[in-house]
Formats: sequence, structure tokens, C-alpha cells
Amino acid sequence: PIPLWLDCDPGHDDAFAILIAAHHPSLNLLGITTVHGNASLGNTTANAGSVLEAIGRTDIPVYPGSKKPFSRPAVHAPDIHGNSGLDGTDLLPKASCPPVLDTNPIVAMYNALIAQPANTAWVIATGTLTNVALLFATFPELADHIKGLSIMGGAVGEGFTDVPMSRLPGEETRIGNVTPWAEFNIYCDPEASQSLLSNPVLAPKTTLIGLDLTHQVLATIAVQERVLKTSRSEASTAGDLRRMLFDLLVFFGGTYDTQFGMADPPLHDPLAVAVILSNLNPEYEKAHPDTVLKFDDKNGERFAVEVVTDGQHGSTPAVTGQLGRTIAKPTEGPGVSIPRGVDIEVFWGLVLSCLERAEQC
Ligand code: BDR
Ligand code: CA
Repeated sequence: PIPLWLDCDPGHDDAFAILIAAHHPSLNLLGITTVHGNASLGNTTANAGSVLEAIGRTDIPVYPGSKKPFSRPAVHAPDIHGNSGLDGTDLLPKASCPPVLDTNPIVAMYNALIAQPANTAWVIATGTLTNVALLFATFPELADHIKGLSIMGGAVGEGFTDVPMSRLPGEETRIGNVTPWAEFNIYCDPEASQSLLSNPVLAPKTTLIGLDLTHQVLATIAVQERVLKTSRSEASTAGDLRRMLFDLLVFFGGTYDTQFGMADPPLHDPLAVAVILSNLNPEYEKAHPDTVLKFDDKNGERFAVEVVTDGQHGSTPAVTGQLGRTIAKPTEGPGVSIPRGVDIEVFWGLVLSCLERAEQC
């Protein structure tokens, strides 16, 4: 199996990223670090432990990471994920294993990744980028050693794809979610994001899963019922894990509807994990030609990405300007990959197969 480290801020969609990372037979999840983001670090850490408990993988260590960005106050998303970061279900179990507190989380990541053979391990980031930026700033040699870095973050806009970011009147030109210009994970710690995206050793190994792509992958009612394995009206007959994940999707759909007029919520984060199981990882594709997930990256187009770091976090979009916007320009040089499309049905098949495996735990 392919070794990976997951850095996350659960988070409704992060919960599904954990599910795939922990239960796909071709993946070996080495550990999880948590970060400020959708909720406080305390909450995202408790949520990661609860999700691992629910899916029967309490053997995976959870390390609490950064409480705040490099040089800004933390920003959370209670309007999308509720105050806990994972609101909407009473089926979330309490973690039976406490988080690991006696090892520095950045050192734990490094030790686990450097112990893998060169050019094999992946770092997956589905939260704000403070921990991952600290990792590569502290241990720059790790950039050479890893196989790939996959980040859920950013938004390109400008005809990159034609999916709407919001269906609310007057928001037709919106490209971001937390502000009209910026995607949440990049916005929360733009300096950390820029340090990763401008690293010339990391760039050729980096995939950026932006909103232009994730807004194509919507957890429709049909998807929600596949998670439940029965119709919504029969929800009470489903198993606890399926009901819990269904509840999370229903809550997520509710907040997306209120905030963006989108009752079918985009399931951003698991796509960043799925990159490892795709044509963007040629060794995997070669070994699994029949089941590989296909992303559309226009045959390998690469981008130089600049993050807007001017401005302050604000309480309303109007005062934030373009802080956290990702400006992507095509490059012949060592740029990052920003796929624009994905085989949506294969992706859902992958999520559901991992759920089947989790149920057997
Ligand atoms: C990202 O922000 C968070 O709210 C989600 O978990 C996802 O990682 C989407 O912009
Ligand atoms: Ca997240």
C-alpha cells in the first residue's frame, strides 16, 4: 500500500477524506495531524478522533498541530460546519484513544514520512496549510524525499471550468467560498499557502484540488441515499455509521443551501486523497489500469500559483479585498497541477467501497 500522512480540520468533507485514507486497500495511513480551520484546534482534534472511532481505525495516531496561522488570527467556519466543526449528528462516538501530546506534531510527520522509501509517500492537506508549511520549512529535505503533495485549496475561476460557486442572485461571478475571491483553506493562512505553492522543489509534486473541480462533485440526494444504502424515508433502518455520514451530508447540504443556494453540497476534501489513486500518480495507474480514477489535467498542464497575501482577515467579504485569492498562470516551468475535471461516478464508487470496508470493522 502507498504510505500517506493526512493533515486535516474535520469538517464534514474531511470526515470522508479520513474514510478513504483509512480504508482504501491501496493506502497506508501513517498518521493524522489536525489544524485550526473549520473549528478550533481542540474541536478538529476531537472530531478526527471521533471519526476514527466511528470507522474502526483507532490504531491511527492523531497529533494536534497548529492553533493559528503564521501571522494572523484564526478564522473558523461555523456557518458551514457548525460550532463543533462537525455538527448535525448525534451518532458521532467519543474517541476512546486520546490524541498524542508527547511528540511535536511536525516531528511526528517528518519521522513517519522520512522512514518510507524515497519517492513513495504522500502528504495530503485538507485543512488550512499551517502545519504542512511548517513541515517543509523545518525539514526542507523532505520535499525531495516525498512522492507527492495533494492539497484541497484554491479557486482559479476565469473560464477554468464553468461550474457555479454560488447559486444566489448577484453572485454569478463569485470564484471563492469564504470570500468572493478566496477559497477557505488558502484564505485562513495565505502566507503558509504561498510558502508551499512557491517552493520550486515541491511544485512539480503538488496537485491543487480547487473549488473549480470540487464544485462538480456534489453530494446529491441520490448520493446521500447511496451512503445510507436505503431511501431517506427508511433512514432509521440503516447502520449507525451510514446514518452518521448521511446526517453529516444532510447538515452540510443545509448550510450550503443557506450560504450559497446549493442544497447539494460539494464534497471537497476526499478528492485530495483520491489523487493518489488516479492517473496523476502514474505508478498507481499502471498497476490498476481498470479501476484508476481519471482526473482531467489537460495532459499535464502546470501552473505557477501566486497567493494574494495583502489585507486583513475581515468579518465580511467587503473588507477583505482579494486576500487568499490564488492566481494561477500556465507555465512551462516547474508548476503545480490543477485538474479541472474528474470521473465523478468512479469517485463515488471509491468512496462507497471504502464505506463498505469501514462497516466491516
Ligand atoms: C475547504 O474548506 C473547508 O470548509 C472544507 O473542509 C474544505 O477543506 C473548502 O473550501
Ligand atoms: Ca477541510
